[in-house]
Amino acid sequence: MELTCTGAGSRLILKLEQFNPTGSTKVRMAREMILAAERSGALKPGGRIVEPTSGNTGTGLALVAIERGYRFLAVVDGHASKDKLRAMRAMGAELIMVGDSGEGPSTVERRRVAGEIARDTGAFWPDQHHNPSNNAGYAGLADELLADLATDVDYLVGAVGTGGTLCGTVRTLRERGSSVTSIGVEPKGSIIFGGPGGKYWQTGAGAGAGFPVGPNVRHDLIDEGVTVSDMDAFTTARVVARRTGLLVGGTAGAAIFFALKRLALVEPGSTMVALVCDAGEKYLDTIYDDAWLMERGLLNEPAHQRLHRLLAAFEESQRLAAIDHARTGT
Ligand SMILES: Cc1ncc(COP(=O)(O)O)c(C=O)c1O
Repeated sequence: MELTCTGAGSRLILKLEQFNPTGSTKVRMAREMILAAERSGALKPGGRIVEPTSGNTGTGLALVAIERGYRFLAVVDGHASKDKLRAMRAMGAELIMVGDSGEGPSTVERRRVAGEIARDTGAFWPDQHHNPSNNAGYAGLADELLADLATDVDYLVGAVGTGGTLCGTVRTLRERGSSVTSIGVEPKGSIIFGGPGGKYWQTGAGAGAGFPVGPNVRHDLIDEGVTVSDMDAFTTARVVARRTGLLVGGTAGAAIFFALKRLALVEPGSTMVALVCDAGEKYLDTIYDDAWLMERGLLNEPAHQRLHRLLAAFEESQRLAAIDHARTGT
């Protein structure tokens, strides 16, 4: 979906991954990791799977467990979207809750508990942060982009958690001859690109202080790593919803925020793609809820107005370019 374009012909395209089964991009890698484990013998028929998750990997694994006859145990924290937790339960997953729900994501603790369960029970732990099949699961995403756009992707902007979505897509794009420039986005307060740790409310992307960032974050495949604050991420998601009727998740809001800021600066005629990892319907109780935002000091009307003005400026630049074309006949 084209969100906007500039008068100089640069387009910002959203890749809407929420239309995958389970409503997120992560089902791609969940299936890839399980199929690889079957092939290697790490997962036996009827076996048990355990994974720490903020919810989207979990719903993906819950679906693949149903399809292929496994039991799935998700290690989660209270930071996860309630709807993702409900969805996993509805799909028959067992949930173990760790950490303090009032604080930021308990990525370190979730990982410790999952490791313990795998060790003690023999359950198969796909370990999305270290499993190469995570990144490999996005080959199809890259191919869809090239087929649907019928042109190269000049810039790819995506939120980074395990790194799988962005790095897996970039790897395949480059294998297919793309000269894509990749931009990884993490929440402000996440430590993946070297910034100081702090609290953040974007879920799915980022890593808290002390988290051992795994090799699926391929720094050789990420040309630029940037941080986006919760306020900018959530404001962007809300303004996109207002202007288009499309509800995107918070990490997609972060990617779109940065993409919009960069769009005016790139070479004329560029194709920029922002990855929308999941849909806003999973966050109606959080980023689309004024009271929830207000409690956290994240509801900011001037920030909303700034975003509206930025999008209006792109529209104005298209209008001026059209007048110019009509006048000069180009
Ligand atoms: C909503 C959301 N955004 C972004 C990401 C980050 O994706 P990746 O782990 O592939 O880097 C995830 C991962 O779970 C997610 O759930």
